[in-house]
Amino acid sequence: MPDVREIVIELLGQLGSSREARQYLNQFSRVEESRFAVVKVGGAVLRDSLESLATSLAFLHRLGLHPIVLHGAGPQLDEALAREGVETLKEGGLRVTTEEVMALARPVIYRENLKLVEALEEHGVKARSLIHGVFQSSLTDRSRLGLVGEVERVDLAGVESTVAAGAMPVVACLGESPSGQVMNINADVAARELVRSLRPYKVIFLTSTGGLLDANGRIISAITLAEDYDRLMGEDWVHSGMRLKLQQIRELLEELPPDSSVSITSAENLTRELFTHTGAGTLIRRGERIQHMDQFPSELEPKLATLFQESFGRRLRPDWLEVREVKGLLLAESGRAAALVLEGIRGVAYLDKFVVTPEAQGEGLAGALWQALVARYPQLYWRARVANPVNSWYFRRADSTLKRDGWVAFTRGIREPDLEREAAEDALVRDSGWIPGEEEGE
Ligand code: ARG
Repeated sequence: MPDVREIVIELLGQLGSSREARQYLNQFSRVEESRFAVVKVGGAVLRDSLESLATSLAFLHRLGLHPIVLHGAGPQLDEALAREGVETLKEGGLRVTTEEVMALARPVIYRENLKLVEALEEHGVKARSLIHGVFQSSLTDRSRLGLVGEVERVDLAGVESTVAAGAMPVVACLGESPSGQVMNINADVAARELVRSLRPYKVIFLTSTGGLLDANGRIISAITLAEDYDRLMGEDWVHSGMRLKLQQIRELLEELPPDSSVSITSAENLTRELFTHTGAGTLIRRGERIQHMDQFPSELEPKLATLFQESFGRRLRPDWLEVREVKGLLLAESGRAAALVLEGIRGVAYLDKFVVTPEAQGEGLAGALWQALVARYPQLYWRARVANPVNSWYFRRADSTLKRDGWVAFTRGIREPDLEREAAEDALVRDSGWIPGEEEGE
């Protein structure tokens, strides 16, 4: 459906820019189709925002994206239990599930699941109910918790075949023992286990609040665990529920590929969250480790050459690396950002190449790479073409600059004026490594 996709991209452009929307759509479409996203929908969202939820999910479906939807039914079950006069007990956040509670829970969960499937179908989405067969479980502690299940194994066959058939899987939080004893699985536990085995690119929690809130009740837009986690855990306004959530999300992200992320948003804001840089909700990423090597590992050469060539849009000479005296290489874990440092004059480091892919720029990886770079090489010099759009960023990070013949040389952390000048002069005559005639925009 290429025309529909085009129209939809135009529409998305109204939220941010269509270029942005296109970038995210490409990103989301690149991963294996069943690994785009797990969307966990709380019971309150099903109750209060079913229409927006179905609209947002239908929109993704139309774009050819197939999230795996997992839902709870907590508030609905509370209501049913209250109606029947059955007391609900919780132990450590888990609902004690007696036979009596299970007898009420099952129909409630079936009904909520069907409600979402029907709402999706009304929006033209082929959807399939997956109530059983996904979570194989065992009893956690029968005497204390009753029929609460612990996930032993996740069977992805149903989810995968649903997606392969072009349909949206709607998974309920029920598990069974191998012989068919049905168990109640806590929705957060189910989400975690599903995410662990599916390893999706995005994990999305749809809540009524639409994000994590700061001390003033405003949504925190982004959290990078490597930088923010300890600080947040030390704040007194971070209440126990949020603490637990952050802890769980951290554990989850540690097991996922480095470019996976968690978004907490609302059903209404899902599209905006997914297809704009600024989003609408809370984006949580692990933050990448940046590795330092004091040699250029030859097995990395093809990968790095590709990263450099694609980022600069030109080709390197075959001997580009041979003629370089490498001092160090900094490389982000995901391979989406790198800085190559060479021996410069009088032992000062010369920054030869600094690249960050556009999507990683949106995540702030350039700043992180720079920090790691200057921590390692406090004295540094480099150069760029005057027309390089990155220059204003470089100007902010340099102590001295020298402009000549279409180039700008930058230095940083070099105290001696003589050495500063020498370094700048040296920068201007360095070999670029690019095939001649292709260096215009460097
Ligand atoms: N659209 C991107 C994503 O979903 C970025 C979202 C940014 N969201 C935020 N709350 N800061 O991965």
